[in-house]
Amino acid sequence: MISLAISSQKGGVGKTTLSLNLACSLARRGWKVLLVDADPQGSIGMSLTEEASRHPGLYELTSQGRALKELAFETRIESLQILTSGQIDPAHYFQWYQDAERQSTFDPLFEQAAGEGFSIVICDTACGVHGPSMGILRSVQSVVIPQQAEPLAGRSLGFYLEVLNQLSAQGSAFSILGVVITMLSFDSEDSQIMATEVREVMPFNLVLNTMIPRDVLFLKASRKGLPVEFLYKQKPAAAEVFDQLAKELELRLGLKSSQEEEGEQTPLLVGP
Ligand SMILES: Nc1ncnc2c1ncn2[C@@H]1O[C@H](COP(=O)(O)OP(=O)(O)OP(=O)(O)O)[C@@H](O)[C@H]1O
Ligand SMILES: [Mg+2]
Repeated sequence: MISLAISSQKGGVGKTTLSLNLACSLARRGWKVLLVDADPQGSIGMSLTEEASRHPGLYELTSQGRALKELAFETRIESLQILTSGQIDPAHYFQWYQDAERQSTFDPLFEQAAGEGFSIVICDTACGVHGPSMGILRSVQSVVIPQQAEPLAGRSLGFYLEVLNQLSAQGSAFSILGVVITMLSFDSEDSQIMATEVREVMPFNLVLNTMIPRDVLFLKASRKGLPVEFLYKQKPAAAEVFDQLAKELELRLGLKSSQEEEGEQTPLLVGP
């Protein structure tokens, strides 16, 4: 099983948008995916029915020993399940937040996810390295960092990579799978220059080829709490960028999607 954290130092860079849409793409590509809302704000909960958003989730699993099997939700995509952030008790918030910095808090989550046969667990985190974001970073194998194409992006990203290196030096086992440039305006020369600059200052190959464009459809989708592919009857072209990203990440993770397995390769026509 692969465990993946979507993490950034800055807020509002597109972590939740990336987590939700990437989870859908990976599930569509044949993987059994668990999307975990590890942000106490409960952003993924937006994409659920009101009843589901009041359901217990990660908080209850980590603090009350509840089982993943009874907490994770089925979704409209057969192989995608969601674990909400849960109903955090304000009276225990500070204690839980402190405990959540430890890897051991999340061991039961990943052990049970493996036991339930999930192939990929994607954790959406709150920005920064503290509380549950820290515990998740200490527990996962891989980290994906969304980064907006903006002035000084290279400098702030460099600092964050250093912080993550410090965490690794303290014994965390994750590797950085890649940086994803988000909210790129293809019609703005400045935005493209900034994206190029990020690529230039980062170590070779760290920045993924796939870039998420700035598109009002993402805003519309998150206002409605939906993955982009569910906005219209027909999947909008904007959603396809996440399929492309899923493919690129599969390659880096050494995964081979069932969609890419060779078919029978026999002639289409049968008969004489
Ligand atoms: N590619 C995009 N194009 C346009 N708007 C976007 C794009 N990606 C995200 N947004 C919008 O930007 C806002 C922030 O995105 P999102 O919630 O995904 O960021 P985040 O990093 O999870 O934020 P936080 O740090 O608060 O958790 C949302 O309103 C979202 O709809
Ligand atoms: Mg978020």
